Amino acid sequence: MQDTAGKVAVITGAGSGIGRGMAHAFADAGMDIVISDIEIKSAEAVAQEIRAKGRRALAMQTDVSKQAQVEALAEAAFREMGGVHVLCNNAGVGQFGFLSKLKDTDWDWQLGVNLNGVIHGIRAFVPRFKKQGQPAHIVNTSSMMGVMTAAGPGIYYIASKYAVAGLSEHLHKELVDRYDIATSVLCPGHVNTRILESSRNRPQELGGQGVLPDRDLGMGSGMDPVDVGRLVLRAIRDRRLYIFTHPSMKPMVAASHAAIQGDFDWAQKTLEELGVAEMGLVQGQEPV
Ligand SMILES: NC(=O)c1ccc[n+]([C@@H]2O[C@H](COP(=O)([O-])OP(=O)(O)OC[C@H]3O[C@@H](n4cnc5c(N)ncnc54)[C@H](O)[C@@H]3O)[C@@H](O)[C@H]2O)c1
Repeated sequence: MQDTAGKVAVITGAGSGIGRGMAHAFADAGMDIVISDIEIKSAEAVAQEIRAKGRRALAMQTDVSKQAQVEALAEAAFREMGGVHVLCNNAGVGQFGFLSKLKDTDWDWQLGVNLNGVIHGIRAFVPRFKKQGQPAHIVNTSSMMGVMTAAGPGIYYIASKYAVAGLSEHLHKELVDRYDIATSVLCPGHVNTRILESSRNRPQELGGQGVLPDRDLGMGSGMDPVDVGRLVLRAIRDRRLYIFTHPSMKPMVAASHAAIQGDFDWAQKTLEELGVAEMGLVQGQEPV
C-alpha cells in the first residue's frame, strides 16, 4: 500500500507502548485510527491524543483473547470508520522467567493473548478485507523471540512468538497475490514500553495480577515506540515481510540458522549411513 493518507488502521494493544507508537506514527502520516485495548482508559487517552492531531480516532475496549470481542471490534471499525485498510495485531503480554518459576496458567494466558489474539484478528478481519475489495495490510507483532531463542523471555512467550512469525509468512503467501492483502511480521528488539508490567492485565482465572517489578528494569533504554511506528509505516509502504527494529541482532539469528544447517548436514550423513532414502515432497514443491 503506497498511499496511506486517509486510510484507516485498527491497532490492538494501542493504549500503550508499540501500539500507541504505531498510532502516532500512522496519524502523523494522515491515517485515522481505531485504538483498541483491554484497558479502555488508556485507549481513550490515546484516541484523544490522535484527535488532537486532527485525525479521526475510535477507542474500543477489546480483550483479544476472546474471539467475540475481536468480532465486535471489526464490526464497529468497519461501520464507524467506513472501512479498514491496516490491521495491527499487536496486543501482547509476557511473564518472563524459567519454567520452574512460572505458573501453568502462563500457557493459557500468554498463548491466549499473543497467539490466539492474532488468530482472532485474522478470523475477524480477513473476510471483511476480501469483501471490501481494496488493498489491505496486516501487521502481526511477534518479537526477536519469534526468530531466535534466549533463556530469559520464557518458553510460553517464545512459543507464541514463533507461531506468530510462521502464520504470518503463510498468510502473506496465501493472500497477497490473490487479494492484494499483504502481511508483515514485526520483530522488535528492546523497545521502551510497559511489557514488563504485563501482568497488570492478567485475568483472575488465569493466575491474577503477578508481582510487578518494583525497580527499574532498564526498559527506558529501549527504542522509542514512535520510531518503531515510523519504521512499520515504511515497511507497509515497501511491503516488507519481516520488520526488524534491531539489525545489529542479525548475527544472532544467523548463528541460530547456522546451527539448523549443521543439523541438516548431520541428517544427510546419518541417513546415508543408515541407507535410508528421502521420500515425499522435495524442495521447491508447495503442498497447497
Ligand atoms: N517492548 C519490547 O521490547 C518488545 C519486544 C518484542 C516484542 N514486543 C511485543 O510488542 C507488543 C506490544 O507490547 P509493548 O511492548 O508495547 O507492551 P505494553 O505493555 O506497553 O503494551 C501492550 C498493550 O497491550 C494491552 N493488552 C494486554 N493484554 C491485552 C488483551 N488481552 N487484549 C487487548 N489488549 C491487551 C495492554 O493493556 C497494553 O496497552 C507485544 O506483542 C509484545 O510482545 C515488545
